[in-house]
Amino acid sequence: MKKILDLIAKEVEEAFFDSGYEKSYGKVTLSNRPDLCEYQCNGALAAAKQYKKAPFLIADEVAAKLTGNQMFSMAESVRPGFLNLKLDPSFLAGYLQEMRKDEERFGCETAKEPKKIMIDYGGPNVAKPLHIGHLRSAIIGESIKRIGRFMGHEMIGDVHLGDWGLQMGLIITELGIRKPDLIYYQEDFDGEYPKEAPFTISELEEIYPTASAKSKEDEAYKEAAMQATYELQNGRRGYQELLSHILNVSVTDLKKNYENLNVSFDLWKGESDAQPYIPDMVQKMKDDGYAYVSEGALVVDVKEETDAKEIPPCMILKSDGASLYNTTDLATIVWRMQDYHPDEIIYVVDKRQDLYFTQVFRCARKTGLVGKDTKLTFQGFGTMNGKDGKPFKTREGGVMRLESLVSEINEEMYQKIMENKSLPDEEEARETAKIVALSAIKYGDLSNQASKDYIFDIERFTSFEGNTGPYILYTIVRIKSILSKYEAMDCKHVKEQILPAKSESEKSLMLEISRFGAAVENAFAETAPHKVCAYIYGLANALNHFYHETKILSEEEEAVRAGYVCLLRLTKDILETCIDLLGFRAPERM
Ligand code: ARG
Repeated sequence: MKKILDLIAKEVEEAFFDSGYEKSYGKVTLSNRPDLCEYQCNGALAAAKQYKKAPFLIADEVAAKLTGNQMFSMAESVRPGFLNLKLDPSFLAGYLQEMRKDEERFGCETAKEPKKIMIDYGGPNVAKPLHIGHLRSAIIGESIKRIGRFMGHEMIGDVHLGDWGLQMGLIITELGIRKPDLIYYQEDFDGEYPKEAPFTISELEEIYPTASAKSKEDEAYKEAAMQATYELQNGRRGYQELLSHILNVSVTDLKKNYENLNVSFDLWKGESDAQPYIPDMVQKMKDDGYAYVSEGALVVDVKEETDAKEIPPCMILKSDGASLYNTTDLATIVWRMQDYHPDEIIYVVDKRQDLYFTQVFRCARKTGLVGKDTKLTFQGFGTMNGKDGKPFKTREGGVMRLESLVSEINEEMYQKIMENKSLPDEEEARETAKIVALSAIKYGDLSNQASKDYIFDIERFTSFEGNTGPYILYTIVRIKSILSKYEAMDCKHVKEQILPAKSESEKSLMLEISRFGAAVENAFAETAPHKVCAYIYGLANALNHFYHETKILSEEEEAVRAGYVCLLRLTKDILETCIDLLGFRAPERM
């Protein structure tokens, strides 16, 4: 279906044309004075210059052409030359009627040129518990992926595990001290290794921080860990086997955690998967004359003349020949291009890695790893802060584990639900608390522009009022309850059809509904899930306003009542579609 704004603009453009002016002046926008009109066009003011005519004269002519047009109930010229527009209620009802026939997309068209887009998000580090720093990447990335899919793009999510580097050497070293007899440490062993991992996830999560702390105090220990890392990276069998155990145990745990967040990935690739591509990539960079040795390290210059600040060279290999974070990111681009030929790769990563990605992207372009046809996008996000404005911490001041945060909010929500006494059954209250808590966390995050820092305010996020996830869910649940009461009224014989609005609040609701397609399209074009949030907040407000002003089920005229119900159902379906794009869902009651 055409977007409603485009339909309106078409009429106004034609009216300009028919009055002897260029069509392009008929651009229409949402009104910035909703008290006066619903849509507006300021084209006459611009046309005045070209046609050397007073703007209000032009506006008068265009308004006259629009008089009698079935789309508008008002097309008014206002000095100094605005065109104020109101939609005809029947036209609007007809538009919504079409939307509701399209049960899954509500008239939102898919992209004309579907793209293949890889999205790199999550980025957890193996053997380290997920902490809240990883929360934003997961939440934002998941939502962008879902919005992209809805728009018809092929979205491929890749978790890009941090599974390469010193942390692996540290674990291998520490485990070797604790269990030196393990077969993995026998260099001459050439038999089959056991299938069972020599540690559990809790052990692993304890081993890593212990080893990391030791390495900071003990130089020899650090040396040993670096040596182990080097040997691992150079193919030592026992160590590679340990790596795959670490990966298996860790990934199983990560999957469980992400599942609780309703986040999933198509690919579970990691930095280690890029290793096989490194030698050829480096060789080619050297052969082509891009990579050169500077202070022992191999680097590629990436500065450009127009740079306002200094962009240091991109380091490809350290002086000891070891690869680094950059190397794996570049080599990851190699396999992504080879295996998938994406039109775009989006990285959803902490914005503090902005400079780093500028270097990586420039290096990838300069050395020909990606061509002109592939876009590389860095979607940097800000920090999640506590109420003190500093990065979110536990009460004791430590790094907050994601699991702890989620259970804290689950508990908070459970208490609230119990206080409200809305759910008598304890088990249902627990389940519902989880669903609502997830909406609080995700909406609290996604409703902010991703690149900005924000304050994680549990009290505000879990509130049933205001711009929050629970408020949106509450609205959906409210509609569900009206709908089921209506069903019980046995009105099956009445035709369900959206009727022209009879009140201001009903019309406002209808106007909000009609903007669905544009809202989602826009959110994707700007990779901005917060636009979906802004849209549903407006829609939920309009619904609640309508609800408070209107007798719905006690409306006596059957057809009118059925029309209201239709409108409510459409609102609910759109709200549910939108929260699915944000990555959460609504309970039956709350
Ligand atoms: N593992 C990294 C971290 O914890 C994030 C990875 C982001 N993605 C990437 N392709 N570098 O900071």
